[in-house]
Amino acid sequence: MSNIVVFGSQWGDEGKGKIVDMLAEKADAIVRFQGGNNAGHTLVVDGEQCILHLIPSGVLHPGKKCLIGNGVVLDPFVFCEELDKLAAKGVDVSPSRMMISKKTHIIMPYHCRMDAARESAKSADGKIGTTGRGIGPCYEDKMNRCGIRAGDFADPDLLKAKIVKALEEKNVLFTNLYSAEAMDPQAVFEQVLPVAERLTAYLGDVSTAIQESETVLFEGAQGTHLDIDHGTYPFVTSSNTVTANAASGSGCSPRSLDRIIAIVKAYTTRVGSGPFPTEQTGADGEYLQTQGHEFGATTGRKRRCGWLDLVVLRESARLNGPTDLAITKLDVLSGLKEIKLCTAYEYKGETVKYPPQEQNAMAHVTPVYETMPGWDEDITQARSWDELPEAAVNYLRRIEEITGVRIGYVSVGPDRVQTF
Ligand code: GDP
Ligand code: IMO
Ligand code: MG
Repeated sequence: MSNIVVFGSQWGDEGKGKIVDMLAEKADAIVRFQGGNNAGHTLVVDGEQCILHLIPSGVLHPGKKCLIGNGVVLDPFVFCEELDKLAAKGVDVSPSRMMISKKTHIIMPYHCRMDAARESAKSADGKIGTTGRGIGPCYEDKMNRCGIRAGDFADPDLLKAKIVKALEEKNVLFTNLYSAEAMDPQAVFEQVLPVAERLTAYLGDVSTAIQESETVLFEGAQGTHLDIDHGTYPFVTSSNTVTANAASGSGCSPRSLDRIIAIVKAYTTRVGSGPFPTEQTGADGEYLQTQGHEFGATTGRKRRCGWLDLVVLRESARLNGPTDLAITKLDVLSGLKEIKLCTAYEYKGETVKYPPQEQNAMAHVTPVYETMPGWDEDITQARSWDELPEAAVNYLRRIEEITGVRIGYVSVGPDRVQTF
């Protein structure tokens, strides 16, 4: 086996966690390279559900190394909570197998307050609908070169000085612009110090750990159309979610990325605001939402649902270079008489095959649909292509045809074993 990148091809929640958990069996190390606890990755093993926000989705396989790359933004309180929850289930979360890069940026309590303040100051149609986890403000500080990095946890004096400096500016914004309360630097320092001390044991050199591992699984978070550059800006997250960032976000060369697997939900969902051309607000959307239990794994919000958008997937293929697709939640489509596939958009009187690039243009396209017959059979027990109804096979083949990428995996239920 070689190194594999797993990424979300739509707007997140495609089922990345499930596929990473499945592939982790054959990997030595699993690394997160971007995003933070805005992610919610669900694994189901022997009927038991486990939702991970920061710790890589390979953690349930004993002995596999779990690495947090430099491109991640890490909330130390959430990380500790996650360690404790897993430890209570008997999972080994000791520093012998878990590592945080010293270069990883830390989400501080003032980032969460800033995220909430910025969102509530926006007008209803301007709200991004962030997860409120402080992701954007933390990446802002990173780019502004005033962020706190995990390595600073080993130096309390530096940590304190950075908190003082950060709050000088942020408190002006809190009190003068956002009618929020100022934060006391000493109190923030005292709040963070215990977790900082605890996490010092996990600090390491992730680049070297990757270099020394035979096979590494790179676990993407969010989805391509939430990418800060290539997504539906400004309704996006604050990191590059595309596969090129797997290398820079973890500290290895792009040449070490061998296989690239696009996770594709068999229909489309989106949480939060922003354009969604194939969204169905009527009975079909309702059907997908209920059958697919489409509620956010991080915020519990209802996910918006609609038909599979192949314009979105074509763009994902060109940006990420997938070697295979993993189609998830195919079982959710069972019971629909007809299934629609969006193959192009009408935009300004023309038919386009890729998303137009002007800001918010995706809000003004009209999807062009192809309609395919559905199937009634329950397919959750299928373990090979032969066990799928013909209509389901035809649907999958059409996806391969239009994206030009072969399907490597099909998932027909949430459990680790419901895959072929
Ligand atoms: P991620 O963020 O990409 O890891 O995806 P989430 O965990 O947020 O959302 C995917 C949801 O779909 C989770 O509840 C999974 O347990 C569930 N799931 C994954 N694959 C399948 C599948 O093939 N069929 C069904 N019915 N559920 C699935
Ligand atoms: P996983 O890894 C789905 C969305 C939020 C919001 C936008 C910006 O589970 O697929 P942020 O808090 O990142 O500033 O919010 O991005 N978002 C996600 N949507 N899945 C996710 O992660 C997401 N992470 C962020 O809903 O619209
Ligand atoms: Mg999710």
